[in-house]
Amino acid sequence: MDDSDQHYWVSNPNSTSRQKEVELLLPDIHLTLMTDRGVFSANQVDKGTRYLLMDELKTTEMPRNLLDLGCGYGPIACALGRRNPEAKVWAIDTNLRAIDLCRINAEKNGIKNVFACLPKEIPEDIYFDAIWSNPPIRIGKEPLHDLLLEWLSRLTSRGSGHFVVQRHLGADSLAKWLGSKGWETTRRSSRKGFRLLDTTRKVGYEES
Ligand SMILES: C[S@@+](CC[C@H](N)C(=O)[O-])C[C@H]1O[C@@H](n2cnc3c(N)ncnc32)[C@H](O)[C@@H]1O
Repeated sequence: MDDSDQHYWVSNPNSTSRQKEVELLLPDIHLTLMTDRGVFSANQVDKGTRYLLMDELKTTEMPRNLLDLGCGYGPIACALGRRNPEAKVWAIDTNLRAIDLCRINAEKNGIKNVFACLPKEIPEDIYFDAIWSNPPIRIGKEPLHDLLLEWLSRLTSRGSGHFVVQRHLGADSLAKWLGSKGWETTRRSSRKGFRLLDTTRKVGYEES
């Protein structure tokens, strides 16, 4: 939360804008990104986000549509766009300031395949080859569960989800819960209190 006492996921942060630049340094990518008050992790790229992006995981050979669920100012979307120039990277958030920053950051870094918008602006016939997210755990368990199921249902049949979640914010129980909802979820790795979770549809799972 910033000093305006608002959560970072509000639609229109009322904190006075104070933009600054942060660096996203990965083995294969170096981006300078604009951040602002009222968006998640404005002072530096979040450690969990960086961990999620360290591993240049190829999900499918030729992804057509990728989703950054909860894009903030766009570190994940911009990295995905740079790594997958043939794909469309959809970047969604509820925070309008974050969406604007994500657009600006893609443009400033010459990344032309990132489309930042509100969730409702994604066309209904778009299905994703992969979803990448540092999800908004702090919105609460039920809203988070609904959000994840809503967007996981938009994966193609062979699509996969890739999430970074802090252990102390319930990564292990989230993985277990996803499993109970028909999503085979494995812990790819774990470091400094963060878990990387990979999830795919369970074969033959039927909701009871
Ligand atoms: C943990 S932050 C991650 C932000 C960014 N991806 C990063 O790594 O810096 C989660 C983001 O999810 C957004 N969010 C919250 N509720 C959402 C919803 N219902 N749909 C989409 N995004 C949401 C928040 O505004 C926030 O920007």
